[in-house]
Amino acid sequence: MMLIHDHFKPRPTDIILSTSPKCGTTWLRALNFAILNRNSYDFDNNHPLFSSNPRDLVLFFEGYIQEGGSTSFIESLPSPRLLSSHLPFSLFPNSITSSSCRFVYVCRNPKDAFVSMWHFMNKLRGRMELPPLAIEHAFDLFCNGVSLNGPFWDHVLGYWKASLESPNKVLFLKYEDVKRETSAYVRKMAEFLDLPFSADEENQGIVEKIVNLCSFENLSNLDVNKVVNKAIFHKIQNPEFFRKGQVGDWVNHLTLEMTEILDQITQEKFQGTGLSF
Ligand code: A3P
Repeated sequence: MMLIHDHFKPRPTDIILSTSPKCGTTWLRALNFAILNRNSYDFDNNHPLFSSNPRDLVLFFEGYIQEGGSTSFIESLPSPRLLSSHLPFSLFPNSITSSSCRFVYVCRNPKDAFVSMWHFMNKLRGRMELPPLAIEHAFDLFCNGVSLNGPFWDHVLGYWKASLESPNKVLFLKYEDVKRETSAYVRKMAEFLDLPFSADEENQGIVEKIVNLCSFENLSNLDVNKVVNKAIFHKIQNPEFFRKGQVGDWVNHLTLEMTEILDQITQEKFQGTGLSF
């Protein structure tokens, strides 16, 4: 955070794709990369999403800086820069939040976000030869706000409020909505980025091509996203970003009591905000 505050120089054209972990970061990266670069690649042949995981196409900028990456590399990226972040909105420096750069935020039903995170953590723990984390323990941590990047609900509310105050700066989306009407949300994202689809592009079916290219079914079945890379074994592996990609898988994992507790926390936290799940 300190490095970002001290060294990151925002540009008015920057686009920051923001999420709480496990809420659809991979999908958001893929969709926006495909929208932004739709004139540069052939959707059937040489598209970079066929050979690279979305995380390698959109810089996860606080992760990159944390690992000692140079800010001069970030400086060297051409505009508009597509960056990805898990930071809460309140932790971005004023230089970013008051500039005209834009945020696209995706949130997810807390029950699915929790279940996804629990599976993800246990995959990582297995690889590190650590015992699995019991769902009851993980659940208590989540409910008490012990999550990566801070309490889940605060993360969502920070972006929700910012989107209400500055709708041209923050586009607030729900994973469930994007899943239900992906084409409509691809158009919405493109419009938000001032890159609406032309009539010609609509006729060529570009929106559908983007939707299909970035779908869970397509991305998760590509070799690049199926193979574990032993050269970077200490890092999160590409297959770990894909599990089921469904809405409502929480029913298979949460007890009735857990469901009631999470629903109650969500209701209390979001009461009066206009946000619900
Ligand atoms: P599940 O664990 O519920 O399957 P993130 O990318 O933020 O780490 O989120 C991971 C979640 O998004 C996982 O959810 C993963 O399966 C799902 N996901 C990954 N790629 C997706 C895609 N292209 N479309 C829809 N969901 C996707």
